[in-house]
Amino acid sequence: MSRRAVIQSIGHAVPTKVLTNKDIEKIVDTSDEWIVQRTGIRERRVCDGPVECTGWLALQASQEAIARAGIDPMEIELVLCGTVSGDYIWPSTACMVQDGIGAKNAGAFDVSAACAGFIYALSNAAAMVESGQVNTALVIGVDSLSKQVNWEDRSTCILFGDAGGAVIIRAEENTDRGLLGTVLLSDGSGARFICIDVGGSRYPFGSPQAVGKREKITMMGSEVYRFAIQAMGDACLKVLDKVGMTSDQIDLFVPHQANLRIIESAAKRLNLPPEKVFLNVQKYGNTSGGSIPLALYEAEIEGKLKKGMTVMTVGFGAGLVWGANIIRW
Ligand code: ACO
Repeated sequence: MSRRAVIQSIGHAVPTKVLTNKDIEKIVDTSDEWIVQRTGIRERRVCDGPVECTGWLALQASQEAIARAGIDPMEIELVLCGTVSGDYIWPSTACMVQDGIGAKNAGAFDVSAACAGFIYALSNAAAMVESGQVNTALVIGVDSLSKQVNWEDRSTCILFGDAGGAVIIRAEENTDRGLLGTVLLSDGSGARFICIDVGGSRYPFGSPQAVGKREKITMMGSEVYRFAIQAMGDACLKVLDKVGMTSDQIDLFVPHQANLRIIESAAKRLNLPPEKVFLNVQKYGNTSGGSIPLALYEAEIEGKLKKGMTVMTVGFGAGLVWGANIIRW
């Protein structure tokens, strides 16, 4: 392919408020030991106060990505945001960002693919760049699930944190960099495994239909766990096959940071040694759509992800959805 979507820069945003496992011990009946042993999570960041929300994180991450790319926001023709915790049911968070950065030449919309939101958004934006529909795009993965969590439910409130990341992608000709391959998968029969019932058109807020339905995240943990173990490895093997690569050709593996045990199991199946697996789940927990771009950002800042390296990302989440991207950075 002569025209590719190449990542020019990456930005991130996390709230400053830290919630440690010890802090959560004061909220629900749990322990630091249980959380670390089952998930690897030690602390997470959570939005605090009325201003901090998904759009607030998305805007900061986007501003950093734009500054690091050294571009004028007027050059951006598309703002694509992967999120399931937008500021409003509608309009989209992408439109909030478009206005915040002054991208007056851009179309903007959200993609709903939960923890695979960034995988889906990047794949779609890259396809639009490769087809020639746009030249420059801002792609965001962001969520603030701390707002959607039931803080009385110990099986979910320990897992999630808030964060966002954003990249600028741009068309380049005759390069070996860019999005090399992508796989997007779904299985709506597993919709009940992780969902929020109330607030959509089926069970509108305040309606008789909504009585007794779930207003916060509810999850069937062990079903999601079993699905995730299978899905992570399957998506990676599919995308490797699609681009004609083997896992030993991957320089860095950046999986969705949901749970250390799930990541370790995927890495084992793919024969990836620990030094090729990027981890920050211990610091942030599961930040849903923000997880993969935040990890890519930290990998780059820590010098583990450099221009020309081949990175494989993989995510899974509510839907059910899952998918993987192979990117030459
Ligand atoms: N502290 C202490 N005990 C707990 C806690 C807690 N925080 N949570 C549950 N337990 C208890 C349960 O009540 C249960 O007790 P019981 O045996 O007396 O009934 C016991 O621990 C075991 O519970 P399980 O749910 O079977 O625990 P499991 O080993 O499956 O671990 C976990 C739970 C960590 C949630 C795991 O299932 C998991 O990681 N699942 C995947 C979740 C995930 O990644 N979700 C993200 C989806 S992405 C998206 O789209 C947002």
